[in-house]
Amino acid sequence: MTGTAARLGSPERYVPSLRALHWLTALLIAGMFVVGLWLKYALPQSASLRHLLFTLHESTGVTIWVLVLIRIAVRLTTGAPRLPADTPGGIRLLATANQVGLYVLLFLMPVMGFLDANSAGVQLVWYEAVPVPSAIGKQPDAIHHQLASAHWWGALVLFLLLVLHVFGALYHATIRRDGVFHHMA
Ligand code: HEM
Ligand code: HEM
Repeated sequence: MTGTAARLGSPERYVPSLRALHWLTALLIAGMFVVGLWLKYALPQSASLRHLLFTLHESTGVTIWVLVLIRIAVRLTTGAPRLPADTPGGIRLLATANQVGLYVLLFLMPVMGFLDANSAGVQLVWYEAVPVPSAIGKQPDAIHHQLASAHWWGALVLFLLLVLHVFGALYHATIRRDGVFHHMA
């Protein structure tokens, strides 16, 4: 244990705000995948439904980005519960890499999605209420395609990290029964 966590000791669970943010984010991310894939593979005929889905996906992505910044700040100042002493080194490393990877993707996905939408000339109005200025403006098709592809690959990596993460959590909850799931419950 180092730094803040050492000063604060090892709590038994994450602080309530981190637990709330974790489960809220999990719910929002599930919705982002459903609506993102819907837009990509089954774009609705109805222009108003299409507009609603794009606005929901893009606005919620921006919301997730703000939430993850708050979450990282809270996390760095409150520390985290320790894994059980008998957790093998390889598993510790995997868990840390997985969780850092999830934070990185939570930060990058909204940025890539936002730039993707900017480059197509979209002017995002957050939940139809707050205009979000475009960072890069409309770009040539080739650049737009690269940004859209970055968003797609990011989604794929995030999905793979999540599969590993959820298997890890369920492994702790059902096979090891070592209280790790309870850290976040
Ligand atoms: C059914 C879905 C999920 C389950 C069962 C689950 C379970 C857990 C559990 C038990 C922990 C605590 C691990 C520990 O104390 O070592 C945790 C931590 C974490 N989870 Fe999840 N999770 C889920 C979904 C997600 C999603 C969707 C994300 C983000 C996209 C996410 C990101 C994280 C991160 C970043 C941590 C590390 C927390 C930290 O130390 O700062 N989880 N999760
Ligand atoms: C955590 C945040 C996000 C996740 C998990 C996510 C996930 C996805 C997924 C899975 C798709 C379908 C596959 C693809 O085409 O890439 C998609 C599409 C899309 N996303 Fe996101 N997204 C996020 C944030 C954003 C944001 C903030 C914006 C814009 C402000 C955005 C704009 C788009 C657009 C425009 C599409 C349609 C894809 C296309 O045809 O290019 N996304 N997203």
